[in-house]
Amino acid sequence: MATYLIIILGIAGLIGGLALTGVGVAALMHHRRRREAAPTPAVPKITLEGKGEFAVEPGVLLNTLWEHLPDAACQAGECGGCKLRLLSGEVAWIRDPVTEVDRSTHILACSCEARGSLRCAPV
Ligand code: FES
Repeated sequence: MATYLIIILGIAGLIGGLALTGVGVAALMHHRRRREAAPTPAVPKITLEGKGEFAVEPGVLLNTLWEHLPDAACQAGECGGCKLRLLSGEVAWIRDPVTEVDRSTHILACSCEARGSLRCAPV
């Protein structure tokens, strides 16, 4: 009698284990499908005329464009060596420039962060 009871409990345990494994696999598949379906956030781009298009790095625009702006010397809004003409897009000024800049048409790559994709031209 005890042998039958042990066999029945063993079979019940096996069935329960299989059921739990099935639930775990289903949950894993559901999580994986949700992750795959999530949209990838668009990375803003900066187009620098005559140079190319680049994915915007975090922080000021000079982080992205430093190798294309060899006259950018101060990184503090003083020298004007990173001045660009803004053709389209929006920026946020993170510091007030010392050098003279018409903010309605120009930006300083060392003092501005992108608010989306931009098009600029070297000055
Ligand atoms: S690097 Fe000098 S003003 Fe931007």
